Amino acid sequence: MILVFGSLNMDLVMRVPTLPRPGETVLCPSYRTLPGGKGNNQAVAAARAGAATAMVGRVGDDGFGQRLRANLTDNGVDAAGVTAGTNPTGIATIAVDDRAENCITVASGANLELRADDVPDAMLRPGTTVVAQMEVPLAETLALLRRARAAGARALLNLAPAPALDADAAVHLATAVANSVDVLVVNELEGAALAGGAAGTGGDGLALCHRLAADLGTACVMTLGGQGAVAAEGGRLWRVRALPVDVVDTTGAGDTFTGVLAAALDAGLSLPDGLLRAAAAAGLACRGVGAQDSMPDAARINAAAADMPPVEAVG
Ligand code: RIB
Repeated sequence: MILVFGSLNMDLVMRVPTLPRPGETVLCPSYRTLPGGKGNNQAVAAARAGAATAMVGRVGDDGFGQRLRANLTDNGVDAAGVTAGTNPTGIATIAVDDRAENCITVASGANLELRADDVPDAMLRPGTTVVAQMEVPLAETLALLRRARAAGARALLNLAPAPALDADAAVHLATAVANSVDVLVVNELEGAALAGGAAGTGGDGLALCHRLAADLGTACVMTLGGQGAVAAEGGRLWRVRALPVDVVDTTGAGDTFTGVLAAALDAGLSLPDGLLRAAAAAGLACRGVGAQDSMPDAARINAAAADMPPVEAVG
């Protein structure tokens, strides 16, 4: 089963003609409130892909929190571990422009109250994949991943959003990741931050992914936007192309990728097979507004993956 430890936000989504520049105000006619937060999105993506999924997180004692819990339940996610804190539910304001570029600001609220101890030991065992991200306190996330690994569970960290790290902090975090993570999922920016600026990688995602996996002793999966994704494990490298789609909104595409990858690994699929399914699902998730509305179910993932070129072994 999948256990997601992470954030839940209510997303306030605005379609704008252009993203505001510093000091600029941009008008749009309306907004939508949609379930979001990276943890929440990954839990829903994993459940829609067919994995038994539970979530542990914090919301506020408010209407947004109630709606987020109900949305998890509606999507088949066990939300018993999503409890109310003292701060309000986290929110994200998301502006999406006509070119499908977005700009996201998160007010974390109750997410900052989440603690590793909120996860009972009984939930951590072989056969469980623990999925975490970077929107709740990092020390708590790392503590939970260490416990998960020690208990024989698989520990997956999506290093999103990219942390701001100076050189010392990058080394410190890389050491912690090496000690607590089995599968690292990053985009190029996140991978470069962890690699301490990634001097010398020259924007080559494959090389950076390979280097992270080798240096950290983890499997590493790197999303490359329209260029697809790559993965590295045990000295082997794979590449998958992106699903060609008309992109409406990329919000939540990375979360869909991570949730579906976790579901595939949890089901016993190989890393390259998981890479293909995750890339197919992430492409499908770009076809509608908001993080979750366009997340595919298993049947749609299967159909899209069947039409994609196979994963290439590149090393
Ligand atoms: O990855 C997309 C998510 O980032 C949004 O749902 C928003 O809540 C922010 O957490």
